[in-house]
Amino acid sequence: MIGRKGDKMDITESTNQPKKMSPKQSGGIDSELSKLGNNLVTKFHVLMRITQIYDSKNVALNQFIAEFLDTINTLIKREGALSLKIVKNDFFLNDQPLRYSVEGFTSFKYLLTQWKKRLIGEVTFKTLVAEEMLRYFIYAFINLEEGCEENADLFKKQLESHHITAIEVTPLEVVEDDEEGFTIQKEDQREVGKKIFFETIGTIKEVITNIKGSQHADVRKLKRLAQKAIHLVIEDESILLGMTMIKNYDEYTFNHSVNVSIYALAIGKRLGFSKKTLAELGITALLHDIGKSKIPREVLNKPAALNDEEWELMKKHPLAGVEIVLNLKQLGEINPRMVVGIFDHHLTSDLSGYPKLYRKKEVSLFGRIIQIADAYDAMTTPRIYKKIPYTPEQALALMLLEKTIHFDPLLLKIFIGLVGIYPIGSLVLLNTREIGIVYKPNSDGRWLDRPTVLVVDRDEEGYAKKEVANLTETDGTGNYIRSIVKTLDPYKYHIDIAKYFL
Ligand SMILES: [Fe+2]
Ligand SMILES: [Fe+2]
Repeated sequence: MIGRKGDKMDITESTNQPKKMSPKQSGGIDSELSKLGNNLVTKFHVLMRITQIYDSKNVALNQFIAEFLDTINTLIKREGALSLKIVKNDFFLNDQPLRYSVEGFTSFKYLLTQWKKRLIGEVTFKTLVAEEMLRYFIYAFINLEEGCEENADLFKKQLESHHITAIEVTPLEVVEDDEEGFTIQKEDQREVGKKIFFETIGTIKEVITNIKGSQHADVRKLKRLAQKAIHLVIEDESILLGMTMIKNYDEYTFNHSVNVSIYALAIGKRLGFSKKTLAELGITALLHDIGKSKIPREVLNKPAALNDEEWELMKKHPLAGVEIVLNLKQLGEINPRMVVGIFDHHLTSDLSGYPKLYRKKEVSLFGRIIQIADAYDAMTTPRIYKKIPYTPEQALALMLLEKTIHFDPLLLKIFIGLVGIYPIGSLVLLNTREIGIVYKPNSDGRWLDRPTVLVVDRDEEGYAKKEVANLTETDGTGNYIRSIVKTLDPYKYHIDIAKYFL
């Protein structure tokens, strides 16, 4: 049973917040610590910027220092000590990976760049810190010469000469990149992908919040982001498709809208849409559930099945979405195709969907594309009433069963070709007894069963990335080195797939 409303199949509904990953599933860090860690990074970022404008005696600084101090000391009181460390392109808080929140993305980027420029890899606060210490520390940090290999040593001496023993710094470890076959350019594109992904989540959140507060919503910003995403999808769709595996954010609705948009764009690309049409499709997908902003939170987040009244309310969201879009100030950015796409994203060919129509109407192409993207994302995401989601493979199988009623069979075929028989993010067992995560589908139709996988290995910290393997690789005698035997359930193996796509 896919839906939430008793006997009514609702394969495409997608309203609830995902369950927060338990520490075990998310690879360690608990959500409270994660929040504090994000706060720390944001405050560090703000302070680094401020110190570049004001000198250390300026009163304008006091408030920012006080806030940073408060964050650090809260963490020290909780954790005993506090270490913030760079590992490759991530921050680790007390040796656990710190996943950034949507709002935190810019701060993470800024801090990573600034630390790396100064070759500082770790800062440890060993005991509670006093205000004067922190003030000295931050200016000493900002004044380090970029690219100087002695920075950590110099910094240590400076701190010692000021009798600051509570703070320690360590040089940046330069890690050799062991992922053969992944060029620097590819890595850069992945960074671009992350930036677009998080910026879009932030922007759709802004748009929805503004609409809720009956304020002006900036659709042009969404359009600009959609255009950037299209550029990337045309170059290499697998990067953004990988991002859709990042599911465990609190802000389900925003995350969902962006994922649906990524899937829709990838389908549109396969259909040969022009960039202009792709932009329209991307924005339509981003706004497809905008009507839900008019539905009370209690209904959207209800953990149990909806009663008749609530269900009636829920079914109003496509039409509510149309009204919102037609009332937008920048209506010039919207065309009828987009409005219709929002209207019929829950409509079915047998009229069993909603809104209720009295005459048969063909579901528009945008609507049919969004239905597939919507269902797939909803089914593969943990929901408040279905905490363990379907695996990508199970979701596709279910959608195939429903294809004549709910989905356009041809588009579904394209979609399966796109995500592969083993969709991105599937956990697979290889004939070598290794476990792998599907990282990139094979673009050659002959080898749909031979994607690129990340082979993962169990170590003290759980599963870690071992190597990137292309399953079309053969040994000297023409036999494949690795083949997929079957898919596995990531929940049974306690593997947090999203981690590998961040
Ligand atoms: Fe919807
Ligand atoms: Fe949706």
